Amino acid sequence: MLEEKNIAVLVSGGGSNLQALIDAETAGRLGGGRLSLVISSHPNAYALTRAAQAGIPARVVAREAYETRAAFTQAVLEELRARDVHLIVLAGFLYVLSPAFCLAYPGRVINVHPALIPAFCGDGCYGLRVHRAVLAYGVKVTGATVHFVSEETDGGPIILQKAVAVEPDDTPESLQRRVMEQAEWILLPEAVRLFCEGRLRVDGRTVTAVDA
Ligand code: GAR
Repeated sequence: MLEEKNIAVLVSGGGSNLQALIDAETAGRLGGGRLSLVISSHPNAYALTRAAQAGIPARVVAREAYETRAAFTQAVLEELRARDVHLIVLAGFLYVLSPAFCLAYPGRVINVHPALIPAFCGDGCYGLRVHRAVLAYGVKVTGATVHFVSEETDGGPIILQKAVAVEPDDTPESLQRRVMEQAEWILLPEAVRLFCEGRLRVDGRTVTAVDA
């Protein structure tokens, strides 16, 4: 029997990746991980409704309420420290946190990004902006990446990636949907499961999933 691990999920919007995690937990596919807290940077995020429907405690730490990134980061950390959190998942969390965040939870923060890192990522490249940039560049393949969070935006060791085709008639919205359906909603619960099962080994930039 695996030890239950408390997971906090940070969100900013629709929360479809949070939903993928909720569904995985319900199906017993989260490796003993337990979604125990949702923190939203927006008071009206639909992700909060998803959390309520799943019975997960939720807190709002509104970005606008803080003058600096550092103060916002401290407020998020205070919410996390009030609980025994093993893993923090940035699931459509659209703000960059201060380095203090990674220092507080080294190797215990993961993020999902809607492109094949190191392409189409970094400061200012998030959400639909990523898919607009992909279409503007004309690449034929994009995808999603789940990675450990480091002090460099989207720069931490990569856990899982999956490629998704760009179609000739894609809009940013249609591409976003396909990347979510074919990659994000599959990769994120899988990465969380591997983490909770204690199967991820990190050697420099290389992450390996070892057998249970
Ligand atoms: C997702 O596509 C996620 O990968 C992206 O925002 C969307 C949130 O959707 N995150 C980033 O771009 C972070 N750099 P969701 O709220 O429905 O999960």
